[in-house]
Amino acid sequence: MTRYDTDVLVVGSGPAGGSAALLLATYGVRTVLATRYGWMAHTPRAHITNQRTMEVLRDLGIEDQALAQGTPPELMGDTVLCTSLVGEEIGRIASWGTADRSATEYAAASPCHLIDLPQTYLEPILAANAAARGAKLRLDTEFLDFAQDDDGVTARLLDRVRGDEFTLRARYLIGADGARSRVAEQAGLPIDGQSGKAGSMNITFTADLSEHVAHRPSVLYWVMRPGAHLGGIGMGLVRMVRPWNEWLLTWGYDIAQPPPGVSAEEAARIVRDLVGDPDLPVEITSTSLWTVNHSYATQYSSGRVFCAGDAVHRHPPSNGLGSNTSVQDAYNLAWKLAMVVRGEAGEGLLDSYSAERAPVGKQIVDRANLSRDQFGPIFAALGIDGDTDSDAIAAGLAACTAATEDGALRRKRLQAAIELKNYEFNAHGVEMDQRYVSNAVLPDGVEPAADRDPELYHRPTTTPGAKLPHVWLVGPDGRRVSTLDTVGRGRWTVLTGLTGGAWREAAAKAGADLGLDLRVVTIGSPEARDSYGDWARISGIEENGCLLVRPDGYIAWRHAAAGTGLLEALRRLLAR
Ligand code: FDA
Repeated sequence: MTRYDTDVLVVGSGPAGGSAALLLATYGVRTVLATRYGWMAHTPRAHITNQRTMEVLRDLGIEDQALAQGTPPELMGDTVLCTSLVGEEIGRIASWGTADRSATEYAAASPCHLIDLPQTYLEPILAANAAARGAKLRLDTEFLDFAQDDDGVTARLLDRVRGDEFTLRARYLIGADGARSRVAEQAGLPIDGQSGKAGSMNITFTADLSEHVAHRPSVLYWVMRPGAHLGGIGMGLVRMVRPWNEWLLTWGYDIAQPPPGVSAEEAARIVRDLVGDPDLPVEITSTSLWTVNHSYATQYSSGRVFCAGDAVHRHPPSNGLGSNTSVQDAYNLAWKLAMVVRGEAGEGLLDSYSAERAPVGKQIVDRANLSRDQFGPIFAALGIDGDTDSDAIAAGLAACTAATEDGALRRKRLQAAIELKNYEFNAHGVEMDQRYVSNAVLPDGVEPAADRDPELYHRPTTTPGAKLPHVWLVGPDGRRVSTLDTVGRGRWTVLTGLTGGAWREAAAKAGADLGLDLRVVTIGSPEARDSYGDWARISGIEENGCLLVRPDGYIAWRHAAAGTGLLEALRRLLAR
């Protein structure tokens, strides 16, 4: 009999690896998390934490920890386009659902609101909870290579404290080792697209900028400065890390040239230039270079090896999809591995990971890159093309504010160009509506057509392959309970109504037959009353119908009214 040191070895403690280890530990799976350095991310990097990721953290019982550390939406959304922080404003984009017209849409879509949670704060939350729930954290441990056979994976690791190598045998390996993933490379995962499209530098710094920003609170201040076209989008970015004294500045460099060394003096010069204050007291805390990529794996797994996060999708920060997509990869994969490790599902279930997540990866890589390109119309409206100097920027703005027919035309163009940026800063559909087609979903062929732009607007539906919509119910103590709170926590759920007694019986039988801890929720019962009537409006089934919901909150199967077939559906879905 094969001996395993652990059931799952996770390589990397970024958003993908940290959440994979936490999820697996929460589901009771023996997990080792091996990561190269002595602690988590040391620079803020990804930060926008969207509603869907907050729902994952809520399911894990750590939403409150994230909220305690994050910056709330009211301090996030006034995205500013300007010539410097002290200079003229070109325009603003009310972002992340904070505009009056989108705030209700975001609020109605989820029990969670989005926050700004830099990686330096998110990663320790994930790792600490993973360790507290039983995952073994191996810091200073570098993954070298792996070999897999029919029964498991043997990984060779380097203990960077002692300097010696050791091996670890696991049933499964998750490569969450970032954009230069050795695991993905060794697994031979096919990567499409383009790497190294443009060069960017991150400069982190501390400086009190409250007088320039507190009256227009935002995460992002885009600054049109000469030189910003080089490797950039034509604007530098001053990004809030903590309001209003900790910052990350992004500036481009020419990727055709050797990577530049950025001294603290040069970094301070760039900071002062974008702020527009040559005497600003500033402390540079780090500088680093990164490249803009447009690449994605078309297959996320090979045998017993699965990759997640930047290992399989690499894209610019536009839309704030980096760590969100990584966490959501892990959320898709972890419950499947847990069920297979426990013997509750056949290995065929694992095929659905790649089938479901690879299309999402391609979609978000394409979206982020398109959003990056969609700054172009702003420059066109101002009559600015390519590199330019401060005078040309000032002339462009003057033409755009002139009380002339030409000025009016330019203003119209600028307005349309700013409107287009909703696809980056208010892409609610992109953030919330990832749809799955795989062997872990049984479609019923009923999918109402989208009545609004599916990238901009969330569309709640119970069509199999979609996420269970959120509506408020009322729980036994009279408090509101989200539909999302009635499912998840690693378990499958049957949702039915008061007259769905046959489904309750079928669920009890299917659970017993399959040895499955199948939860049954009766909407309308004291535990989940549809007091507002929203469930009846949105459920897509009759009261005596049934929704079968996966542990990740996705609808796997739907039966519109009374009927049969639950056990057979579960057998197919679980590859039993
Ligand atoms: P991530 O790269 O976060 O983590 C990989 C992990 O694997 C790390 O813990 C690493 O130490 C470990 N590892 C790697 N090789 C290993 C090995 N051989 N053995 C053991 N451990 C190994 N996104 C965004 O939305 N907004 C932003 O502003 C930015 N900014 C930004 C700046 C810079 C400089 C970078 C590099 C990236 C960004 N990103 C970003 C992207 C964002 O950080 C990224 O999408 C997520 O961190 C991806 O999370 P992962 O967990 O997949 O990889």
